[in-house]
Amino acid sequence: MDYARQFSEYQQLINQALNSFLPGDDVGPTLIHQAMRYCVMNRGKRLRPIFAVIACELCGGTRDEALGLACGIELIHTYSLIHDDLPSMDNDDYRRGKPSCHKQYGEAVAILTGDALLSLSYKLMCESLQRRRKVEIIRNVCDAIGSFGMVGGQVLDLRLQESDAAAVDEKTLLDIIHNKTARLFSISLESGAMLATDDEEAIRRLSEFGTFFGLVFQLVDDIMDNEAYIATIGKGRLRELVTAYSTQARERLSGFGPRAALLEWFLEQITQKAAAPQVYS
Ligand code: IPE
Ligand code: IPE
Ligand code: MG
Ligand code: MG
Ligand code: MG
Repeated sequence: MDYARQFSEYQQLINQALNSFLPGDDVGPTLIHQAMRYCVMNRGKRLRPIFAVIACELCGGTRDEALGLACGIELIHTYSLIHDDLPSMDNDDYRRGKPSCHKQYGEAVAILTGDALLSLSYKLMCESLQRRRKVEIIRNVCDAIGSFGMVGGQVLDLRLQESDAAAVDEKTLLDIIHNKTARLFSISLESGAMLATDDEEAIRRLSEFGTFFGLVFQLVDDIMDNEAYIATIGKGRLRELVTAYSTQARERLSGFGPRAALLEWFLEQITQKAAAPQVYS
Protein backbone atom coordinates (compact mmCIF):
# COMPACT_ATOMS: atom_id res chain seq x y z
CA MET A 1 0.00 0.00 0.00
CA ASP A 2 1.37 3.39 -0.96
CA TYR A 3 0.63 5.37 2.19
CA ALA A 4 2.48 8.50 1.07
CA ARG A 5 0.21 8.61 -1.95
CA GLN A 6 -2.90 8.14 0.17
CA PHE A 7 -1.68 10.97 2.43
CA SER A 8 -1.28 13.24 -0.58
CA GLU A 9 -4.76 12.35 -1.86
CA TYR A 10 -6.31 13.21 1.50
CA GLN A 11 -4.35 16.48 1.52
CA GLN A 12 -5.77 17.38 -1.88
CA LEU A 13 -9.27 16.59 -0.68
CA ILE A 14 -8.86 18.86 2.36
CA ASN A 15 -7.19 21.64 0.37
CA GLN A 16 -10.01 21.67 -2.18
CA ALA A 17 -12.63 21.77 0.56
CA LEU A 18 -10.82 24.55 2.44
CA ASN A 19 -10.57 26.53 -0.77
CA SER A 20 -14.31 26.20 -1.33
CA PHE A 21 -15.23 27.12 2.27
CA LEU A 22 -13.02 30.22 2.59
CA PRO A 23 -14.34 33.55 1.30
CA GLY A 24 -12.61 34.69 -1.91
CA ASP A 25 -9.82 37.21 -1.40
CA ASP A 26 -11.63 39.67 -3.68
CA VAL A 27 -14.64 39.66 -1.31
CA GLY A 28 -14.82 42.62 1.05
CA PRO A 29 -13.40 43.35 3.53
CA THR A 30 -10.58 42.11 1.32
CA LEU A 31 -7.79 42.63 3.84
CA ILE A 32 -9.10 40.06 6.31
CA HIS A 33 -10.09 37.58 3.61
CA GLN A 34 -6.68 37.84 2.01
CA ALA A 35 -5.02 37.29 5.39
CA MET A 36 -7.24 34.27 6.12
CA ARG A 37 -6.35 32.68 2.78
CA TYR A 38 -2.67 33.55 3.22
CA CYS A 39 -2.60 31.61 6.50
CA VAL A 40 -4.77 28.64 5.55
CA MET A 41 -3.97 27.93 1.89
CA ASN A 42 -0.33 26.93 2.14
CA ARG A 43 1.91 24.04 3.08
CA GLY A 44 0.04 22.86 6.18
CA LYS A 45 0.24 19.10 6.49
CA ARG A 46 -3.50 18.85 7.28
CA LEU A 47 -2.99 16.04 9.79
CA ARG A 48 -5.90 16.91 12.06
CA PRO A 49 -8.57 17.21 9.34
CA ILE A 50 -7.26 14.05 7.67
CA PHE A 51 -7.57 12.23 11.00
CA ALA A 52 -11.18 13.43 11.33
CA VAL A 53 -12.00 12.09 7.87
CA ILE A 54 -10.24 8.76 8.46
CA ALA A 55 -11.99 8.29 11.82
CA CYS A 56 -15.35 8.90 10.17
CA GLU A 57 -14.52 6.36 7.44
CA LEU A 58 -13.25 3.78 9.96
CA CYS A 59 -16.61 3.99 11.72
CA GLY A 60 -18.61 3.46 8.54
CA GLY A 61 -19.11 7.04 7.38
CA THR A 62 -18.09 8.73 4.15
CA ARG A 63 -15.37 11.29 3.41
CA ASP A 64 -17.86 13.85 2.27
CA GLU A 65 -19.88 13.89 5.46
CA ALA A 66 -16.73 14.66 7.50
CA LEU A 67 -15.37 17.49 5.33
CA GLY A 68 -17.12 20.39 7.08
CA LEU A 69 -15.98 19.23 10.49
CA ALA A 70 -12.48 18.44 9.20
CA CYS A 71 -12.04 21.89 7.66
CA GLY A 72 -13.48 23.54 10.77
CA ILE A 73 -10.77 21.81 12.80
CA GLU A 74 -8.03 22.94 10.38
CA LEU A 75 -9.27 26.53 10.69
CA ILE A 76 -9.06 26.23 14.49
CA HIS A 77 -5.53 24.82 14.19
CA THR A 78 -4.50 27.67 11.87
CA TYR A 79 -5.96 30.28 14.23
CA SER A 80 -3.96 28.72 17.09
CA LEU A 81 -0.73 28.93 15.07
CA ILE A 82 -1.29 32.58 14.08
CA HIS A 83 -1.72 33.55 17.73
CA ASP A 84 1.11 31.21 18.82
CA ASP A 85 3.54 33.08 16.52
CA LEU A 86 2.64 36.58 17.79
CA PRO A 87 5.41 38.68 19.37
CA SER A 88 3.67 38.40 22.75
CA MET A 89 3.68 34.61 22.49
CA ASP A 90 6.45 32.65 20.69
CA ASN A 91 7.52 35.60 18.54
CA ASP A 92 8.13 33.54 15.41
CA ASP A 93 8.74 35.31 12.09
CA TYR A 94 8.08 32.29 9.88
CA ARG A 95 5.28 29.76 9.60
CA ARG A 96 4.92 27.03 7.00
CA GLY A 97 7.90 28.43 5.09
CA LYS A 98 6.53 31.97 4.75
CA PRO A 99 6.49 35.12 6.92
CA SER A 100 4.05 34.55 9.77
CA CYS A 101 0.72 36.37 9.67
CA HIS A 102 1.80 39.33 11.81
CA LYS A 103 4.98 39.74 9.75
CA GLN A 104 2.92 39.91 6.58
CA TYR A 105 -0.13 41.86 7.78
CA GLY A 106 0.83 43.41 11.13
CA GLU A 107 -0.14 42.35 14.62
CA ALA A 108 -3.66 43.74 14.74
CA VAL A 109 -4.71 42.00 11.53
CA ALA A 110 -3.06 38.78 12.71
CA ILE A 111 -5.11 38.78 15.91
CA LEU A 112 -8.27 39.45 13.94
CA THR A 113 -7.41 36.77 11.36
CA GLY A 114 -7.25 34.23 14.19
CA ASP A 115 -10.59 35.48 15.52
CA ALA A 116 -12.20 35.29 12.08
CA LEU A 117 -10.94 31.75 11.44
CA LEU A 118 -12.26 30.56 14.79
CA SER A 119 -15.66 32.11 14.07
CA LEU A 120 -15.75 30.66 10.57
CA SER A 121 -14.95 27.22 11.95
CA TYR A 122 -18.06 27.28 14.16
CA LYS A 123 -20.22 28.45 11.28
CA LEU A 124 -18.85 25.69 9.08
CA MET A 125 -19.45 23.01 11.70
CA CYS A 126 -22.99 24.27 12.39
CA GLU A 127 -23.84 24.29 8.69
CA SER A 128 -22.27 21.02 7.66
CA LEU A 129 -22.87 18.52 10.43
CA GLN A 130 -25.89 16.35 9.70
CA ARG A 131 -25.99 14.08 12.66
CA ARG A 132 -28.42 14.37 15.55
CA ARG A 133 -25.38 14.48 17.86
CA LYS A 134 -24.22 17.69 16.14
CA VAL A 135 -24.61 19.90 19.22
CA GLU A 136 -22.73 17.40 21.37
CA ILE A 137 -19.91 17.19 18.82
CA ILE A 138 -19.52 20.98 18.60
CA ARG A 139 -19.71 21.27 22.38
CA ASN A 140 -16.89 18.71 22.74
CA VAL A 141 -14.78 20.63 20.20
CA CYS A 142 -15.33 23.82 22.24
CA ASP A 143 -14.21 22.02 25.37
CA ALA A 144 -11.07 20.68 23.70
CA ILE A 145 -9.88 24.05 22.42
CA GLY A 146 -10.89 26.46 25.20
CA SER A 147 -9.54 27.30 28.64
CA PHE A 148 -9.86 23.66 29.74
CA GLY A 149 -8.03 22.46 26.62
CA MET A 150 -5.76 24.04 24.02
CA VAL A 151 -5.94 27.64 25.26
CA GLY A 152 -5.39 26.43 28.84
CA GLY A 153 -2.30 24.54 27.68
CA GLN A 154 -0.97 27.56 25.81
CA VAL A 155 -1.37 29.74 28.92
CA LEU A 156 0.56 27.26 31.05
CA ASP A 157 3.19 26.99 28.32
CA LEU A 158 3.66 30.77 28.32
CA ARG A 159 3.94 30.87 32.10
CA LEU A 160 6.52 28.14 31.88
CA GLN A 161 8.59 30.16 29.43
CA GLU A 162 8.33 33.22 31.65
CA SER A 163 9.61 31.27 34.63
CA ASP A 164 12.41 28.76 34.49
CA ALA A 165 11.45 26.46 31.62
CA ALA A 166 14.46 24.26 32.21
CA ALA A 167 13.24 23.41 35.72
CA VAL A 168 9.85 22.00 34.75
CA ASP A 169 8.89 18.63 36.22
CA GLU A 170 7.71 15.84 33.97
CA LYS A 171 4.11 15.76 35.16
CA THR A 172 3.60 19.50 34.57
CA LEU A 173 5.24 19.28 31.17
CA LEU A 174 3.05 16.38 30.03
CA ASP A 175 -0.05 18.16 31.29
CA ILE A 176 0.83 21.22 29.16
CA ILE A 177 1.56 19.10 26.08
CA HIS A 178 -1.64 17.15 26.58
CA ASN A 179 -3.74 20.29 26.64
CA LYS A 180 -2.04 22.48 24.08
CA THR A 181 -1.60 19.76 21.42
CA ALA A 182 -3.01 16.32 22.20
CA ARG A 183 -6.54 17.55 22.90
CA LEU A 184 -6.97 18.87 19.35
CA PHE A 185 -5.67 15.64 17.79
CA SER A 186 -7.92 13.64 20.07
CA ILE A 187 -11.07 15.65 19.32
CA SER A 188 -10.35 15.45 15.58
CA LEU A 189 -10.60 11.66 15.66
CA GLU A 190 -13.32 11.54 18.30
CA SER A 191 -15.63 13.93 16.49
CA GLY A 192 -14.96 12.30 13.11
CA ALA A 193 -15.96 8.97 14.63
CA MET A 194 -19.06 10.44 16.30
CA LEU A 195 -20.30 11.58 12.91
CA ALA A 196 -20.56 7.97 11.81
CA THR A 197 -21.30 5.82 14.82
CA ASP A 198 -22.76 5.56 18.32
CA ASP A 199 -20.33 2.78 19.21
CA GLU A 200 -18.78 4.38 22.30
CA GLU A 201 -15.94 1.87 22.42
CA ALA A 202 -14.84 2.71 18.86
CA ILE A 203 -15.13 6.44 19.58
CA ARG A 204 -13.08 6.07 22.77
CA ARG A 205 -10.32 4.07 21.06
CA LEU A 206 -9.92 6.63 18.28
CA SER A 207 -10.04 9.49 20.76
CA GLU A 208 -7.28 7.85 22.82
CA PHE A 209 -5.21 7.14 19.70
CA GLY A 210 -5.40 10.90 19.08
CA THR A 211 -4.28 11.69 22.63
CA PHE A 212 -1.23 9.43 22.47
CA PHE A 213 -0.40 10.50 18.91
CA GLY A 214 -0.61 14.14 20.01
CA LEU A 215 1.72 13.56 22.96
CA VAL A 216 4.26 11.88 20.67
CA PHE A 217 3.83 14.61 18.08
CA GLN A 218 4.53 17.50 20.48
CA LEU A 219 7.40 15.71 22.23
CA VAL A 220 9.09 15.15 18.88
CA ASP A 221 8.37 18.75 17.81
CA ASP A 222 9.93 20.00 21.05
CA ILE A 223 12.98 17.80 20.51
CA MET A 224 13.39 19.23 16.99
CA ASP A 225 12.87 22.78 18.33
CA ASN A 226 15.34 22.02 21.13
CA GLU A 227 13.05 23.40 23.82
CA ALA A 228 14.64 24.51 27.09
CA TYR A 229 13.25 21.67 29.20
CA ILE A 230 14.91 18.90 27.19
CA ALA A 231 18.16 18.91 29.14
CA THR A 232 16.26 18.70 32.43
CA ILE A 233 13.95 15.83 31.57
CA GLY A 234 16.79 14.03 29.80
CA LYS A 235 16.99 12.67 26.30
CA GLY A 236 16.85 9.06 27.46
CA ARG A 237 13.62 9.71 29.34
CA LEU A 238 12.15 11.52 26.33
CA ARG A 239 12.96 8.56 24.12
CA GLU A 240 11.22 6.29 26.65
CA LEU A 241 8.13 8.50 26.66
CA VAL A 242 7.93 8.61 22.87
CA THR A 243 8.20 4.80 22.69
CA ALA A 244 5.66 4.22 25.48
CA TYR A 245 3.06 6.60 24.00
CA SER A 246 3.56 5.17 20.51
CA THR A 247 2.86 1.69 21.86
CA GLN A 248 -0.27 2.97 23.59
CA ALA A 249 -1.44 4.68 20.41
CA ARG A 250 -0.86 1.56 18.29
CA GLU A 251 -2.80 -0.59 20.75
CA ARG A 252 -5.88 1.59 20.37
CA LEU A 253 -5.99 0.75 16.65
CA SER A 254 -6.02 -3.02 17.07
CA GLY A 255 -9.83 -3.25 17.02
CA PHE A 256 -9.98 -1.67 13.57
CA GLY A 257 -7.78 -4.23 11.83
CA PRO A 258 -5.96 -3.47 8.59
CA ARG A 259 -8.27 -0.54 7.79
CA ALA A 260 -6.39 1.51 10.39
CA ALA A 261 -3.00 0.93 8.72
CA LEU A 262 -2.81 4.48 7.44
CA LEU A 263 -3.12 5.90 10.98
CA GLU A 264 -0.37 3.55 12.07
CA TRP A 265 1.78 4.80 9.18
CA PHE A 266 1.37 8.40 10.39
CA LEU A 267 2.51 7.31 13.84
CA GLU A 268 5.53 5.56 12.36
CA GLN A 269 6.50 8.68 10.39
CA ILE A 270 6.58 10.71 13.60
CA THR A 271 8.39 8.14 15.70
CA GLN A 272 10.96 7.54 12.97
CA LYS A 273 11.68 11.25 13.06
CA ALA A 274 12.29 10.87 16.79
CA ALA A 275 14.41 7.77 16.33
CA ALA A 276 16.83 9.54 13.98
CA PRO A 277 20.09 9.66 15.96
CA GLN A 278 20.75 13.33 15.16
CA VAL A 279 17.50 14.28 16.92
CA TYR A 280 18.81 12.92 20.20
CA SER A 281 22.48 13.75 19.84
C1 IPE B 1 2.39 22.58 14.48
O1 IPE B 1 1.54 21.57 14.01
C2 IPE B 1 2.02 22.92 15.88
C3 IPE B 1 2.31 21.87 16.86
C4 IPE B 1 1.39 21.32 17.59
C5 IPE B 1 3.68 21.45 17.08
P1 IPE B 1 1.74 20.93 12.55
O2 IPE B 1 3.14 20.44 12.39
O3 IPE B 1 0.65 19.93 12.33
O4 IPE B 1 1.54 22.20 11.62
P2 IPE B 1 1.13 22.31 10.08
O5 IPE B 1 -0.34 22.50 10.09
O6 IPE B 1 1.54 21.07 9.33
O7 IPE B 1 1.85 23.54 9.61
C1 IPE C 1 2.06 25.02 19.29
O1 IPE C 1 3.17 24.52 19.91
C2 IPE C 1 0.82 24.54 19.95
C3 IPE C 1 -0.34 25.34 19.56
C4 IPE C 1 -0.35 26.25 18.66
C5 IPE C 1 -1.57 25.10 20.26
P1 IPE C 1 4.58 25.12 19.44
O2 IPE C 1 4.70 26.56 19.83
O3 IPE C 1 5.64 24.19 19.88
O4 IPE C 1 4.42 24.99 17.85
P2 IPE C 1 5.47 25.54 16.78
O5 IPE C 1 6.81 24.95 17.15
O6 IPE C 1 5.43 27.04 16.90
O7 IPE C 1 4.94 25.04 15.46
MG1 MG D 1 4.06 27.77 21.40
MG1 MG E 1 5.38 28.18 18.55
MG1 MG F 1 7.45 23.85 18.61
